[in-house]
Amino acid sequence: MTIIAVGSDHAGYHLKEQLAQQLRDLGHEVLDLGAHSTDRVDYPDFGAAVGRAVASGQAELGVCVCGSGLGIAMAANKIAGVRAAPVHDVTAAHLTRQHNNANVICFGERLIGADVAAEALVAWLDAEFEGGRHAGRVEKLDGLTNE
Ligand code: RB5
Repeated sequence: MTIIAVGSDHAGYHLKEQLAQQLRDLGHEVLDLGAHSTDRVDYPDFGAAVGRAVASGQAELGVCVCGSGLGIAMAANKIAGVRAAPVHDVTAAHLTRQHNNANVICFGERLIGADVAAEALVAWLDAEFEGGRHAGRVEKLDGLTNE
């Protein structure tokens, strides 16, 4: 069981709800940071909330959804210690865990099919960071936050 923070804006609300339920069905604890409806909101607020939950250790991983998956990833990545990856397919989902040790995955509800997102989420959860030659690169990534 993993504690996983989830967040979206209005444009990602439906996919966020779907993925949160999928995570619960898989036995994970979901920390739902909103949005809680399709009322118009701003994606930076929710990407940052998920990022802060992960960076503080309140959650181990995070899942973000907006219309494109791009803006909310940018917001999450502003938080030190967050490595958020916007993902549109299964291959990228497992690679970003294996190579980048992504601790937040981001989807675009307007761009990705619901089934692909579900499969990508599982691929990301099941993948493991390979370490080795990737470890130093991830350390460098984390170091950039302080520039
Ligand atoms: C909202 O209209 C949309 O701009 C947002 O969900 C996201 O796609 C931004 O990157």
